[in-house]
Amino acid sequence: MGEIVSIISGKGGAGKTTVALNVASALSKLGYSCIVVEGNVTSPTAALYLGYLPAEKTINNVLKDELSLDEVILTHESGVKLVTCSLSLADLASDYKKAFEMIKSLKDKADLILIDAGAGLDEEARLAILASNYVMVVTNPELPAVVDALRAVRLARALKRKVLGVVVNKHNASLPQLPVEEIEKIVEAPVIATISEDKAVHESFAYNQPVVHFRPKARASVEFKQLAAKLVGESIDEKPNALLDRLSFWLHKIGLRYLP
Ligand SMILES: Nc1ncnc2c1ncn2[C@@H]1O[C@H](COP(=O)(O)OP(=O)(O)OP(=O)(O)O)[C@@H](O)[C@H]1O
Ligand SMILES: [Mg+2]
Repeated sequence: MGEIVSIISGKGGAGKTTVALNVASALSKLGYSCIVVEGNVTSPTAALYLGYLPAEKTINNVLKDELSLDEVILTHESGVKLVTCSLSLADLASDYKKAFEMIKSLKDKADLILIDAGAGLDEEARLAILASNYVMVVTNPELPAVVDALRAVRLARALKRKVLGVVVNKHNASLPQLPVEEIEKIVEAPVIATISEDKAVHESFAYNQPVVHFRPKARASVEFKQLAAKLVGESIDEKPNALLDRLSFWLHKIGLRYLP
């Protein structure tokens, strides 16, 4: 029976969708099944990052009794399983409360269900939190994002959900940024991962792939894999390899696919 974890941030653009897709891809490579659910119904992006333009089967088909929940689970070549929602403005009027209720039945179908919540801490984020057992908060190492992360932690606790911890995403050692100890003090929760700002993340999404699948030796990929392993109580001892990473990327660009 799988656990449901919502990924929230408060501040938009912190990296919730990036974390969800990369953790799911990394877990599939570790032999776990993980379904990412689009919880950002007003501005869904997870499917777009993976190249579903647009996705033909969505949770809205289930809400309209056209398809079953099983039939709208998309399987991407990176190993990510995804349940997304419609991009149509007309479908925004759908009963998303019902959709978030249905997510709970995914528990029988995967080891982990990750709800990629919308930005902010309004109704959409609340629905995501309430549909989950655990909450993971994503922030960036800058004060405005960290303060929003604290509000996210407090909201999750007010809704009686356990906070697994905070992921500090887009860490850049060459910039003056808040240290982890400082962030932990502010957010009142442990930092469970620090993910570097890495242009391989951008470059991979340009190819409709999570970085862990497309550039497995990139720094951010190794950090995402370590986070994924941690979530299932495992650990991996792997180091990034910038040379192998660049080499395989350039080989790909000239039409030769080689995964290190
Ligand atoms: N570790 C990283 N290194 C470099 N770029 C990153 C990293 N993480 C995320 N990004 C980039 O930051 C942008 C925002 O990421 P993402 O869409 O995952 O954030 P989000 O929190 O889901 O945003 P929203 O609040 O709009 O849902 C994207 O362009 C993504 O490629
Ligand atoms: Mg997002």
